[in-house]
Amino acid sequence: MTDILQDDDARIARAAILLRDGALVAFGTETVYGLGADATNPTAVAGIFAAKQRPHFNPLICHYASAEAAFRHVVANEQALALSATLWPGPLTLVLPRAPGCPVALLTGAGLDTLAVRVPAHPVTLALLRAAGRPIAAPSANRSGQVSPTTAAHVMQGLGGRIAAILDSGPCAVGVESTVLDLSGEQPILLRPGGATVEAIEALIGPVARGGVTPGGALRSPGMLESHYAPSLPVRLNAVAVAPEEALLAFGPPLSRAGAVFSLSPSGDPAEAAARLFEGLRVLDAEGARLGLRNIAVMPIPLTGLGLAINDRLGRAAAPRGITGA
Ligand code: TXA
Ligand code: MG
Repeated sequence: MTDILQDDDARIARAAILLRDGALVAFGTETVYGLGADATNPTAVAGIFAAKQRPHFNPLICHYASAEAAFRHVVANEQALALSATLWPGPLTLVLPRAPGCPVALLTGAGLDTLAVRVPAHPVTLALLRAAGRPIAAPSANRSGQVSPTTAAHVMQGLGGRIAAILDSGPCAVGVESTVLDLSGEQPILLRPGGATVEAIEALIGPVARGGVTPGGALRSPGMLESHYAPSLPVRLNAVAVAPEEALLAFGPPLSRAGAVFSLSPSGDPAEAAARLFEGLRVLDAEGARLGLRNIAVMPIPLTGLGLAINDRLGRAAAPRGITGA
C-alpha cells in the first residue's frame, strides 16, 4: 500500500521519518516528482533502482536543503559558488568532485568520484529535506523509460504499491527536470538541458560546452540514453501538417482540426509549454489508445529558453525504442 500524504507539517514529518528509516517516498519538486531515499543508505538507494526497474545503476542526484549543506559533500569551485548564489534553490544540478569523507553511498553516484547535487525550489520539498536532515537521492518517480510524473496521481499510476508513500505538493510548476551541469572538469559541460536555461547559466559563468557525449564518444552522463520519456504511441517531431489519424501536441495556434489536440501553450510561451509537456504526452497517449490513433504529431518549438529542454525530451520520446534510461 502506498500512502498519499498531503503537505501539512505532520505529514512532512511522517515522510521524513519514513526516509530516515530507509523507506522510499516520492515527493514533488518544482521540476518533476522525485522518488526519494536516504542517499547515505545503500540498501535504501538500491530500492530506488528496483522500484523503477531501472536497468543500470545510473548515478542519482542528491537533494539538499541548502547550498551550505550540499557543499559539505562535494568540492565547490568558483563557478559552483556563483551559480548556487543566484540559481539555488532552483532547477539546476551541479556535478562536482565528492568531498573527502563524503557520507553519500557510492551506489548513489554509481561508483563515480563525482556527485550530482541540487537544492530544489519548493517549500514543501525544502521542509522535507530539513526534517530528514540528510541528503535525499531522487530520480524522477516513474518506471524506467516512461514519462516523468508532474502530479502525485502520475506517480501513483506508475509506482503505486511499490513505494511507502507519496508526499503530494500539487502539480510541478516547471514541468521538466533540472539542468545538469558538469563542473568537475576544465570546462563546464551541459549534460542535460532543463529548467535552468543555458542563457541564465552563461550570464553568470560564461560559455558552457554543449552535449553529454565526450569527443571519444563515451557517455558523460549515463542517464542520457536515447529512448526515454516514451509514451506508447510513436512521436513525430516538427509537424507542419497533421493527418486525421494523428494526435496533435500543439505549440502556439494549433494546426487544422485534429481529433485529439493538447495545446502546450496557445500563446507560444516555452515556460508554460514545459510545465504542460509531460501531462500532454500522457493525455494524448490515452486519447490515442481510445481513438485508435497512429501517432503523436508535435508542432515545432523554438530552441531558446526552456525550449531547449522541451526539444531534448521530445527528441528522446521520438527516438527508436529499446534502450531506456532514467
Ligand atoms: O529535476 C530533476 O533533476 C529530478 C528531480 C526529482 O530532482 N531528478 C531527476 O533525476 O531528473 P534523474 O535520475 O532522472 O536524472 C539524473 C541525471 C541523469 O541524467 C544522470 O545520469 C545524471 O543526472 N547524473 C547524476 N549524477 C551524475 C554524475 N556524477 N555525473 C554525471 N551525470 C550524473
Ligand atoms: Mg528520469
